[in-house]
Amino acid sequence: MNELIAIVDSAKAAFAHAPTPADLENAKALFLGKAGRITELMKGMAALSVDEKKSRGAAINLAKQAIEAALHERRQALADAEMQAQLHAEAIDVSLPGRLRGQGGLHPVSLTMERIEAIFGSMGFDVAQGPEIESDWFNFTALNTPEDHPARSMHDTFYVEGGSESAPNLLRTHTSPMQIRYAVQHVKKHRSAIDAGLGMPEIRVIAPGRTYRVDSDATHSPMFHQCEGLWVGENVSFKDLKFVFTDFCRSYFESDDLVLRFRPSFFPFTEPSAEIDIQFQSGPLAGRWLEVAGSGEVHPNVIRNMGLDPERYIGFAFGMGPDRLTMLRYGVNDLRLFFDGDIRFLSQFR
Ligand code: DAH
Repeated sequence: MNELIAIVDSAKAAFAHAPTPADLENAKALFLGKAGRITELMKGMAALSVDEKKSRGAAINLAKQAIEAALHERRQALADAEMQAQLHAEAIDVSLPGRLRGQGGLHPVSLTMERIEAIFGSMGFDVAQGPEIESDWFNFTALNTPEDHPARSMHDTFYVEGGSESAPNLLRTHTSPMQIRYAVQHVKKHRSAIDAGLGMPEIRVIAPGRTYRVDSDATHSPMFHQCEGLWVGENVSFKDLKFVFTDFCRSYFESDDLVLRFRPSFFPFTEPSAEIDIQFQSGPLAGRWLEVAGSGEVHPNVIRNMGLDPERYIGFAFGMGPDRLTMLRYGVNDLRLFFDGDIRFLSQFR
């Protein structure tokens, strides 16, 4: 019997030392396999008498059961260990801080728009928004822009569906149509006073927004921004334009160290017309003339299309490029950076 106890003990020891399920199955074969120690003992019973077989067989069976129990226990232990290892490997550390949403900020051009609105707001200008899909009438005809003007060509303008053959729809090529839209509303509101010769409050408005042209390079984008300005009253002269725009530029760039030049030019909707250039007297751009806007005294035909008498009403208008103003203010040299949506660029303006 001591022999059986020794076999059971050595089986338990072999199982306990099997590091993996495969090792455990090999160890099992040594005791319970075809040529295993227990199997050999069974075979050795053939020569025994019936009574001996009974008692010897019962004893071997007990030993076999003890070995099987030990085997199951070890199998379970190895399976549990494997499960624990897997759980550990797949564990999620819920104590890690979460990934926070990055803090957003306004687009640099939006920052410029806000500055423009604040500065002109402080000078008593209203802010108006208008449609980006515009009719040919507001974009060209009402602005005294003749049929054969190059801006009307398919090469320069995005025509879109809708509208009629004689008055097609297009993506507005400038914010100037807002001069007409805003003035017509204003005049309608004060029509009876105007007709009675009492006059009207002055029209003073800026109209910022998106504009579109078939154009694309480092300084031109098919979509860009403009901001229109309009001041119409009974005695609004070129002198007022110079004063207002100079004041604006000095506020916008936070510098008195810049001068303006009104360079004679042509626009169908103004007479006379001028391009406005600025020159910084110090800093990295010092000495260069930089074009920032078109401007002029509103053409009598445009005043008429607003529903006003050009003998009595007069004013100035200008159209500037907020994209350009943003580039100058922050020293950006490629317009496309504004519209690529690259967070590394944009986050610098937060
Ligand atoms: N609309 C013109 C353009 O896009 C800019 C412009 C010039 C606007 C003169 C004006 C103006 O209001 O008076 O080139």
